[in-house]
Order: sequence, then C-alpha cells, then structure tokens
Amino acid sequence: MTKSSYTKADNERIESAYDEYLMPIWKSLDVPVREASGCTLTDFEGNEYLDLFSGISVVNVGHGNEAVANAATDQLERFVHGCSYVHPNEPVADLAERIAEITPGDLQKTFFCNSGTEAVEGAVKLARKHTGSKEVIALEMAFHGRTLGSLALTGNRAYKDGMAPTLNDVAHAPAPYQYRSSHQDCSEAVFAERAAADIERVIDAHTSGDLAAIIVEPVMGEGGIVVPPADYLERVQTIAHEHDALLIADEVQTGYGRTGELFACEHFDVTPDILTQAKGIANGLPLGAFTAPAAIADSFESGDHLSTFGGNPVACAAALASIGELEGEVTANAREQGNWLTEELEALENEYAVVGETRGLGLMQGVELVNPDETGPNGVAPAPDPSLAKHVSSHLRDAGIVMGVGGFYKNVMRLQPPLSITQEELERGLDGLRVALEAER
Ligand SMILES: Cc1ncc(COP(=O)(O)O)c(C=O)c1O
Repeated sequence: MTKSSYTKADNERIESAYDEYLMPIWKSLDVPVREASGCTLTDFEGNEYLDLFSGISVVNVGHGNEAVANAATDQLERFVHGCSYVHPNEPVADLAERIAEITPGDLQKTFFCNSGTEAVEGAVKLARKHTGSKEVIALEMAFHGRTLGSLALTGNRAYKDGMAPTLNDVAHAPAPYQYRSSHQDCSEAVFAERAAADIERVIDAHTSGDLAAIIVEPVMGEGGIVVPPADYLERVQTIAHEHDALLIADEVQTGYGRTGELFACEHFDVTPDILTQAKGIANGLPLGAFTAPAAIADSFESGDHLSTFGGNPVACAAALASIGELEGEVTANAREQGNWLTEELEALENEYAVVGETRGLGLMQGVELVNPDETGPNGVAPAPDPSLAKHVSSHLRDAGIVMGVGGFYKNVMRLQPPLSITQEELERGLDGLRVALEAER
C-alpha cells in the first residue's frame, strides 16, 4: 500500500476490530501504526508521528533497521524453530557467546526465553536453586512483569488489583526515590546509605532470613525513571551477599544501550549475580534472557527449566545484528544525545513550576509533573499531577509526537526514543513538550 492510499477508514476498522476481538486491557488505541522507519511511525491515514517511546523502550536501533531486518529475513528463510535445547543451532550459540562478551564481569551463561517477565521468573528460580533459599526482596514501585510470579515482585497495587494471591515469600523495601523520600535534604552518599539501610530493616522485619535474592532495576522504568544514588547498587549487592543471597539486576528496560552504556550496571561498576534482559535485545522481535556466572548458572540441572519458543533462531539472529549496531555508533549516540537531553530537561525545571523534577540516564529520561499548589504524599514535594500528564500526552499526540506516561503516580512523561535519534528530532520533541506545557498553563 502506498501512503496515498492510506485512509481514515483503515484506522477506524482497526480500532473497531480491537474493540470487538481483543481483550479490553487498554482503554483506547494510542497511535495505530501501518509502518515505521527510524523514529517515525505512520498511521493508516498517512499521518506521521515522532516516536519518543520506542514501543515501550524496545526498538533501540530504530524502526525498520536494515541490518536487523536482513539478519531476521535470512534466518527466517533458513530455519525458524528449533527450541534452543532440542536442536542446538548457530544463532543461539553465537548470541550466548556475544552476551558473555558484552555483559559485565564474569557473567557467562545464558538462558533464553520470550519476554522480560519470563526472564525475571527464571532468574528467581535460578537464585532459589543456587542458594537453596526461598525469599526475595524487591522494591516498592518496581515493575518486573504481570504473570503471577513476576507480579508478586512488582511493587505497585495498580497492577495487582483483583489478581491476588500471587507468590508469597516476597517483601518490598522503599525505592531509592529521593524526590519523594523523607530523606530530602541529605547528600547523595548519605541517601544511598539510608536507602540501603531500608533494605536491611525490611529483611529483619518482614522475612524469616531465608533470602534467595534481592531484585532491583538499576534505573526504575515503569516506577517513573528513578535513578538511584551512585553507591546504592553496590551496597545492595553487599547486603545480598551478607545474607548468602544473590543480586538480580533486572535490565529488561535499561539494557542494550538505553542508558548510554550497553548495560546500566556499568554506570555503577557493579556486576550483578544474575542479569535479566528483554525489550531492546532483539529490536522488537520477542526474546528474553537471563545471564549468570558459570558457578551460579551451573546450579540448574537438566529439566529444571525450559521454554518451547525461548531462543528462537530468528529472534537470536536479529539480536546479533542489533548488538552489532549498538556496538557501532548507536550506544555512543544514546550517550551523547542523552547528555544533551539531560541539560535541556533540567532547564524545564526552572521554566515551569509544574515540572517537579527531571531525571534519567542516557535516553531513558523522565519529567515528573506536579501541582505546585498542593503538597504530595507524606508532606514531601509538590503533589503528583497525573491528569496534567494525561493532557500533555494527548496534546503531544495531536502534534504528531508519541511520548510515554508512567510512574508510580502516573505523572511522569517518559522520553525513551530509539537510540539512533538525531538532535533535531529531540529538539522537535522538546518544542512539542513546551507547547503542550504552555497550553496547560
Ligand atoms: C524492568 C522490567 N522488568 C520486566 C518487565 C516485563 O517485561 P515483558 O513485558 O517483556 O514481559 C518490564 C516491562 O516493562 C520491565 O520494565
């Protein structure tokens, strides 16, 4: 179909098919997409949108990336399915080897699955098998998935309403979210100490001490782009080890260049005991993974875990090509544009009273919107303003810009574009954000 033959009727047909034949878990379609290239989405009427959200932080090397498309097509013609362990194959072997090379420290052996949720659940199983212990500490506001096991780790009632009981043996510790913490006025180093001490208190108060793992997102994504203080991750790992437990870094959202390093743990000089991956790993083809040092990974025995589609050769071939792009210029671009964007967003804090805080690493940036006339939960910081975020998002959409909205209080604008984005495209996005904020003044 050429762009000129796109029609409004096609958009409407898709919307009504969604209403009639899909389960209603999303209130309305955001932007129907007919095709996409780089950072541009095109709907069925031929309208173009600047994509600043990458399909929830997935299409890291850009829509329609040629190297990824060629690698996937080539593999599609050769051999589509082998179940990674039933028919050992080249893309799985090569990708596992590449992951051992690009992940920090001694992370070496990988299990492939199909999604972030599965990676998280598999990682917890491995931690249990390795330690012989059961309990897991996760963080309040964390998001680790929606199946019953991963939902138990997710620290947000919004995802759990009506879905209990989930796994037991999970306790949640406060997130390292200084903007809304009662430890407002201390230095970053002191806050890191206090946030880590919160974890020790939760272990003592809410577990039996039979700890298998502590799971953290190095930068919290769905929780509202929360960047922890510099020493936090290292301290959390020390606490885990003192309890003979493992640190699981959930890099489903932060991995594969998103934060300007291939993995966000690298910003904090930490090699986790298990590293989960998905989202950006194969630039949109379904693939998840978790990786551990041999001494931990070898705790799994034959039959302990498996996935029929996990390690699909087409997705693995796409991942290999995508990693090639990330190691070329794309991660460097994420770092460079991310540094530029960080400064531009910081300026918004002074320009608009409704911008409470901006924060992020690389091209994982958040703009927390607030009502400056009201005080937030626990009397700390201005009140979150989720309704403003909703309005800003729809202004942006009308202006042809897709930006995410998230956060524990649903008041954080999320800028997580393809990492290949140009400064001009980011400038367009920022101009759009300013216009939307002006319109809501
Ligand atoms: C940190 C993190 N872990 C796990 C998941 C779940 O991934 P998936 O939706 O691929 O199952 C997500 C999804 O947003 C995530 O951000």
